Formats: sequence, structure tokens, C-alpha cells
Amino acid sequence: MNSRPVDARLRRPERLSIVGAGYIGLPTAAGFADVGYEVTCVDINEEKISQLQAGRVTLHEPGLEQLVQHGLRTRRLRFSTDLASAARESSIVFVCVPTPQADDGSADLSFVEAVAAQLARVVHPGTILVTRSTVPVGTASRLREIIGRSDVHVAANPEFLREGSAVRDFLHPDRVLIGAVEPQVQRRLAELYDVFDAPVVVTDIPTAELTKHAANAFLATRLSFVNSMANICEAAGADVHDVMRVLGMDPRIGPKFLAAGPGWGGSCLPKDTRALAHVARELGEAFTQLESTVASNEQQFDRVVSRLAQHLEGGCAGRRIAVWGLAFKAGTNDLRDSPSVSVCRRLLAAGASITAHDPAVNATAVASLGVDYAETSIGACFGADALVVLTEWSEFANVEPASVASAMNGKVVFDTRNVLDANRWTDAGLTLLRVGRGSPDPLNDAASANAA
Ligand code: UDX
Repeated sequence: MNSRPVDARLRRPERLSIVGAGYIGLPTAAGFADVGYEVTCVDINEEKISQLQAGRVTLHEPGLEQLVQHGLRTRRLRFSTDLASAARESSIVFVCVPTPQADDGSADLSFVEAVAAQLARVVHPGTILVTRSTVPVGTASRLREIIGRSDVHVAANPEFLREGSAVRDFLHPDRVLIGAVEPQVQRRLAELYDVFDAPVVVTDIPTAELTKHAANAFLATRLSFVNSMANICEAAGADVHDVMRVLGMDPRIGPKFLAAGPGWGGSCLPKDTRALAHVARELGEAFTQLESTVASNEQQFDRVVSRLAQHLEGGCAGRRIAVWGLAFKAGTNDLRDSPSVSVCRRLLAAGASITAHDPAVNATAVASLGVDYAETSIGACFGADALVVLTEWSEFANVEPASVASAMNGKVVFDTRNVLDANRWTDAGLTLLRVGRGSPDPLNDAASANAA
């Protein structure tokens, strides 16, 4: 981590408050402090704030702890539980509190609204209140009503941070999106980002709010398309990886975000797709394509279990399943809406028992899930009837297939993330199933032989 001094491109010495010290707020606060702004990061969780004041970060986010420690050393980054004092000292306040999914699929804005109501009582005239969490279109107008002050500005600056690379994404953004009404607010927010080498797009607030939802809905739709193609490939004896490799060579499509898997998940894609579908229905413009993107992802989770059941005589009931990977993707310890957790729940409902291992997730985090935890990959396999790989941690590729074969009771290995070397694993006498690859899969081979 570099320890650069205040960046020479800093236009204006703004004092910033970041409300919420989570996956979005913390990289935002530490990143802004790193380039030279005076930042106070506020959270209601006293324990979290005292850990952060001591330079300790519990999120599994590469580079974040070093960035926080550097901010503390330069004294440009401070942590506090006192929202009123921090906001009174700030010219711009970023709201980075959670917007979880409500029961009807909409975004629950109660945390954002509560923060806005508190800020309304304390901020100085001219303060800019910026939503950075993902919020549905129309949120800024709602906040304006809650604040009820014409001397306080409201704006949107949606984040595009990916977990596992949030620090890099913050310091080297592809693009910065600002939604604001008043020209001086647009200018001040745009100037805040002059220090980053990134295109800054300034637009109106509803456009900015909707763009963030559109980005995540598009990514989710892309993945559901890839997974549906994978299923067709399985039936046809084709290889989805080659299909996507060739699609990705078309510059209009591009090679990223084309990996088939057990279904997509995480803290953003599931809730944002549902929230946009909900908003669309409310606006009288039902987004049927997005609704089927969401539905087909649920079917993808089901499919992992049904395909496994086909290969276990008598199905999954009473079977011991080893699971490798619980996090929603490699590089994080986040279990929120994890595809692995969705599949585990289905396996448990089908009567299986599970022993799981994940390099970044500990036993305490999975206690409520109803799965046993193993400290090692091999430890999860002892006596298992089948092994399912559900997160793409690269270390799984280095496990010796022969030692897995001798630890397991059965022979079925379902690599839903394409991390295992097919030849090595089949050479060890194991039956390897993969997503979107017709072969080597005895059932599909048999099906094509029968068809021939
Ligand atoms: C996402 C967006 O990418 C980011 O721009 C936004 O700000 C927040 O939401 P994140 O939730 O960190 O980021 O995860 P992402 O890397 O997008 O992965 C989401 C899910 O898709 C994971 O379950 C991942 O395993 C899956 N995925 C991703 C695939 O199955 N195949 C791929 O090719 C890529």
C-alpha cells in the first residue's frame, strides 16, 4: 500500500463524513482519506468503531486494513459513533448504510431514512447529503421530504465496488457517477473525484439511481443467460466454456463475467434485481425479463441438487455431502445470499447432511446453517458420499484427488465452479460432474449414446 501525501490534484479540502462502516462505507472512507480528504467514518456499532480506531478491520477485503491504518497514521481518517458531531463538521455526508431486501422484494430504506432524519436536525446550511448505498429510483426525492430543508442539498453517487477488490475499485474506478440538480453541487461532487483518473458522468438524480440498478440487473441477466446456455450444453454434449470463450472475443460482449456456475449471489445482485423488478411493477412497467432472470437463478440452485441426486443411488436423503466453499465468491468471507448457502439449504431439505470447508469462513459463521464445519478441505471429505465444490477458491485445485478419493465413501465430485482439473480427478477414479460440460459425465454420455 502506498503512503502518498495529499494528492496534488485535490481541488478543494472538503471535510467528509461517511455514515456506515461496512463493505461500502469503509473502503469509501479510507480511500477518500488516502487521497487527502479529512474523513470521519461513523457507525452505530461501538465495538466495530473501537476496533477500527485501533486499526483492526474484520471484513475480508484485501488492502483495506492497511489503508485504514495509513489513514489513522496521517490523522486524515477518524472513526466515531457520534453522527451529529461528525455531520456538523462536514461539507459533504455520504450515506453508506444497508438497504436490505424487504419481504416483498423492495429495498428497505428504513436505515437510510433514519440517517436522513437525524442529519436534518444537525447539518449546516449548504451541506450535501449523498446516497452511496444502492437505492431505488425516487429515493432522493423521498429524502428531500424527510429532511424538509431547502438549504440542504441531496445528491446520488452510487458505488460500483466489488467485494474482494473494493479498495482497488475505489482508488482506480472505471467510472464515477454523480446525480445532482444544482450546478454547484454537481461541480463540487465532480471535483471531489478529480484526484482519480476516471471519467466522471454527471446526470440527474433519477438517472443516477436507476443506472446503478441497471448495472447489477444487466450483470445478473448476463449470468443467468450463461447458466441457461450451460444447461443446454449439458443436454447437447457441448462445452459452455468454449462457447463463452468465443462469445467473449466479440468486443461488443467482452470476456468478463461469463463463467457458468451454481447460480449467482452476493450482497448486491440478488437484492438489486428484485428491487428493480419491484420498482418496475410499481411504475406500471413490469420487467418480465428481469423476473425470469431471478427465477432461472433459483432453478439453477435446484439443478445442482437434482443433478447430484441423479448420481447418488436413492437420491440425497440420508447422504453425507462434503461441500467446498461457502462464501458467495472467492476472495471474500461474505455469506450474504451465497449460492453455496442456497444449495446447502436445498441439500439439507432433501435430507442430506453436510460437512463444509471454506478457507475464509469459520465454524461460528456457519453454526446457524445446520452444517458441520471442517478445518481442512480433506477433513470435509471423510466418509462423504459426494463432494460439491461451490466457491471457486483456487486452493481447491491444489488438493490431491487421490487423497480425496481415499477419504470419501462415494465417488461423485460435482465441480460447479470449474476449478478442478478434469483429467487428474477422473484418473483418481472419481466421477466428475461439471456445469455446462457434457463430458465426462456418465449420465449425459449414456444419454447421447442412447440417442445415437
Ligand atoms: C457486484 C457488482 O459486480 C458490483 O459492480 C456492484 O457494485 C456490487 O455487486 P459483488 O457482489 O462483489 O459485485 O460480486 P460479483 O463479483 O459481481 O459476483 C456476483 C456473483 O456472480 C457471485 O456469486 C459470483 O460467483 C457470480 N459470478 C460472477 C459468476 O457466477 N460468474 C461470473 O462470471 C462472475
